[in-house]
Amino acid sequence: MKRFLFPAASLALLGVALAQPAPAPAASPTLRRLALPPETGTYRPGPGAALANALCLNCHSVEYCQSQPPLPEKYWDATVKKMKEKFGATLPPEAIAPLTQYLVEAYGKKP
Ligand code: HEC
Repeated sequence: MKRFLFPAASLALLGVALAQPAPAPAASPTLRRLALPPETGTYRPGPGAALANALCLNCHSVEYCQSQPPLPEKYWDATVKKMKEKFGATLPPEAIAPLTQYLVEAYGKKP
């Protein structure tokens, strides 16, 4: 009979532990440890790279471009326009063509 007392006591302790309020997320050391390192990757050098570095690193890393297979101008044109129209990238209209040309040169062909 005595051996049933231990699980009962454990359950009671678990209940007490679960009843504690969860710590606020901002104060959690676990979440602080998960902070991501600053983004350091930049676009490949070439005419237009400065434009891409200024306009295309606000939301995601350059790896989104690096990880694409070599794709034609049609793809890069559509991608730049998609970033602006669907995802809300702040791209001045006059930057679309130079960005597309740069992306075709830098990422559209096999390096
Ligand atoms: C306003 C935020 C924002 C900006 C600025 C932005 N992107 Fe994106 N991009 C996204 C989002 C959101 C996705 C989709 C992410 C996902 O599917 O996980 C994406 C995905 C991509 C992809 C992966 C392929 C795809 O179609 O999903 C490529 C390539 C890409 N972006 C290139 C660019 C380039 C080049 C620029 C600069 C002209 C740029 N992005 C600027 C938000 C942005």
